[in-house]
Amino acid sequence: MALASRLAGALMHEVNNPLEAITNLVYLTKLRKDDPALVWENMGIIEQQLAILSKVTSQALTFHRTQAEAQNWDLVAIAESALKLHADKITRHGVTVDSRFQRPAVTRAFGTEILQVVSNLILNALDALPRENGRLSFRVRTHGEAIHITLADNGSGIPAHVAQRLFEPYMTTKTQGTGLGLWLSQRIIVKHSGTLRFRTSQKPGRNGTTFRITLPLISLSRPEPAKMTA
Ligand SMILES: Nc1ncnc2c1ncn2[C@@H]1O[C@H](COP(=O)(O)OP(=O)(O)OP(=O)(O)O)[C@@H](O)[C@H]1O
Ligand SMILES: [Mg+2]
Repeated sequence: MALASRLAGALMHEVNNPLEAITNLVYLTKLRKDDPALVWENMGIIEQQLAILSKVTSQALTFHRTQAEAQNWDLVAIAESALKLHADKITRHGVTVDSRFQRPAVTRAFGTEILQVVSNLILNALDALPRENGRLSFRVRTHGEAIHITLADNGSGIPAHVAQRLFEPYMTTKTQGTGLGLWLSQRIIVKHSGTLRFRTSQKPGRNGTTFRITLPLISLSRPEPAKMTA
């Protein structure tokens, strides 16, 4: 309950900022409707604020949406779907992806939620990677009773004051970010009896960030895992 009301408060705050900005801009634009350049510019800002609004609300809704039952999911299929989903953006960023996936890696999960987590980790890495020599190492490995999904970038690294609060809701350093990505990701992974951990460095030459998702491996004597289509 305490967390829910804290989140509701934070959500109100996140929604109110763009709403207020849009309200003010509409008012100002009406006053200066004879200045087409200004009207055009204001429309651009309004559009941007609306995009933030819709991202904040859809992120917040995802977690509360009721889900069907968990299924057996092949995490390699999910990893491949996530890569396919962001293939264009990866190419545009000029990032080299080194992926090594080890099968079988089946876990009991809500597939779309895990896809959402992996997606957010990929997008975060792309945001942090330089335009040149950006590298992303992507692994799915099993170890004993566990599956590890590891995403390591050679990006900017995370400064200590951000790292300390990384999993808090609305913690963002991006103008277009909601700061809900990692908060949500951690909750999703914990709900799946897993862990989400990170390591980061800003030391030149050793800079980068590694996120590791660990989930329970289930034995393959169960029925065929569900297939994911991207
Ligand atoms: N791989 C990374 N390298 C450097 N910084 C990162 C990385 N991943 C996350 N961060 C930092 O953590 C912050 C929080 O990430 P999170 O995914 O929760 O939200 P966001 O990416 O800012 O917003 P959104 O997910 O809505 O786009 C980011 O703003 C960024 O500063
Ligand atoms: Mg993010």
